[in-house]
Amino acid sequence: MERFYTTTAIDYVNGAPHIGHAYEKILTNVIFRHFTQRTDNAYMLTGCDEHGIKIQKTSKELGMSEQEFCDMNAQKFIDAWKLLDINYSQLIRTTNPLHKSAVQKIFQKLKDKGDIYLHKYEGLYCSGCEAFLNEKDLDENGCCPIHKKKPEVVCEENYFFRLSKYKDAIIKYIKNNPDFIIPSFRANEVLNQLENIEDISVSRSKKSVHWGIPVLDDDSQVIYVWIDALSNYITALGYLSEDDEKFQKYWPADVQVIGKDILKFHAIYWPAILMALDLPLPKHILAHGWITIDETKMSKSLGNVVSPKSVMESFNLIQPDALRYYMATSAPCGKDGNYSDDDFKEKVNAHLANSMGNLLNRSLSMLVKYFEGDIKPEFITKAELFSEAKKTIENVKHHFDYYEVQEAGLKIMEFVDTVNKFVTDNAPWTLAKEEKWTECGTVLYTVLECMTAISSLIYPYCPNIASAMANQLKYDINTKLDDINFNAIKEGHLINKEDIKPVFLRLDSELADKKK
Ligand code: MSP
Repeated sequence: MERFYTTTAIDYVNGAPHIGHAYEKILTNVIFRHFTQRTDNAYMLTGCDEHGIKIQKTSKELGMSEQEFCDMNAQKFIDAWKLLDINYSQLIRTTNPLHKSAVQKIFQKLKDKGDIYLHKYEGLYCSGCEAFLNEKDLDENGCCPIHKKKPEVVCEENYFFRLSKYKDAIIKYIKNNPDFIIPSFRANEVLNQLENIEDISVSRSKKSVHWGIPVLDDDSQVIYVWIDALSNYITALGYLSEDDEKFQKYWPADVQVIGKDILKFHAIYWPAILMALDLPLPKHILAHGWITIDETKMSKSLGNVVSPKSVMESFNLIQPDALRYYMATSAPCGKDGNYSDDDFKEKVNAHLANSMGNLLNRSLSMLVKYFEGDIKPEFITKAELFSEAKKTIENVKHHFDYYEVQEAGLKIMEFVDTVNKFVTDNAPWTLAKEEKWTECGTVLYTVLECMTAISSLIYPYCPNIASAMANQLKYDINTKLDDINFNAIKEGHLINKEDIKPVFLRLDSELADKKK
């Protein structure tokens, strides 16, 4: 694999980040970190969507300038991603001058080509979707089905994009590339939407929305927020700028991760824009499901909006690994997931503390107890368990090739269970009692060698825990997956008693409580 490029949706900064936004960034970051274990050239882009009517209105209500308001809220997203160890390569803000100028050029290019034209129009605008809706999209009360609000009747002269021109090409592309939209069951939904697709308005009169990027040679119009937002995936890489090296290197994206609610924009509008610009389409669009809280939709009015920070604080977590692991494995690929405090606690205690953490802890403790922490040459073997481990690595890679992050996580935990069973079956404590030292040492060596592979595999989900494991095993956590050869644990002294530390404390343990 030569290079890998992944993106997230860019979040509207009219509020603070919640666990739904966090889910997407964690999912993408786990994918990104996995691919850093397969190539040196992996790139992850995330960002903030800072234009549009909602931001204009909210900042006005707060008596702030739009830019001040965006700066204040963008910082909340930046802080949240830091807290969650989302190590993106770049975070783009759509108020960035380089982005704005590239969007103007993109718009102009489409206009010059005749794909954007002026047209007087009356339509129904939903500010929640930042989109015009058709009558038939509305529910029985004449409201937007997502935001449950009546759209505004807007009558303006706007620029229109010839979306209809690309309809057949997009249908063909989706049919010829069955894995373009992941999960594939969503492709039909998109094909149905394509049936009735019409040209779309891609600008708004400055009189109704001024907080946007002005059209280059027509100052009375600002560019529609979705054209502005979608372009971020290429403007961030320098498309149509003086330095487009990253664009040349990384476009087309390998996978663009978004929520199922914005699939239409990414599977119809975005491909059409790219086709109009004569650019290749992303290889995959991954539409993830929604996260509910205790099986209920998150909403301000219900007062059940959970932020990543509040979860971290209520469980007194110093590192985000448990939350990352829980969120990333909360739903099968593309399906809805749920967050609940009890389930969170139960799952991470069982998987990260009891199964994985304890396995390392007790193996290292036995190595110290029976062999003063030394690996003797006669312990080193080519164990059968290594072929199981190798199979797990291949399975995990295969799941990631299809962006099945939960499924890959479950495979890792299955292997942890296998290694736990290996310990129970071989009972090194009994071998020690019987003074079968070589056998006992071989069992421990085998387990520790497997733990190096486990630390690599769990790294994308739990980078801190993985590094702590690797540290105690004197293993290089930056080892590429294909370089794992089950010869990482060397003969000689491995660890002292005082250096054996639990890599993850049970959320309800006394030690974790003490840290409060
Ligand atoms: N600004 C647009 C995206 C433009 S991308 C070119 C937008 N912003 S958003 O803030 O409303 O949503 C950002 C992402 O968070 C979207 O992918 C959306 O699906 C996701 N989520 C928002 N709430 C969510 C949940 N409750 N659960 C999971 N993801 C959710 O749309």
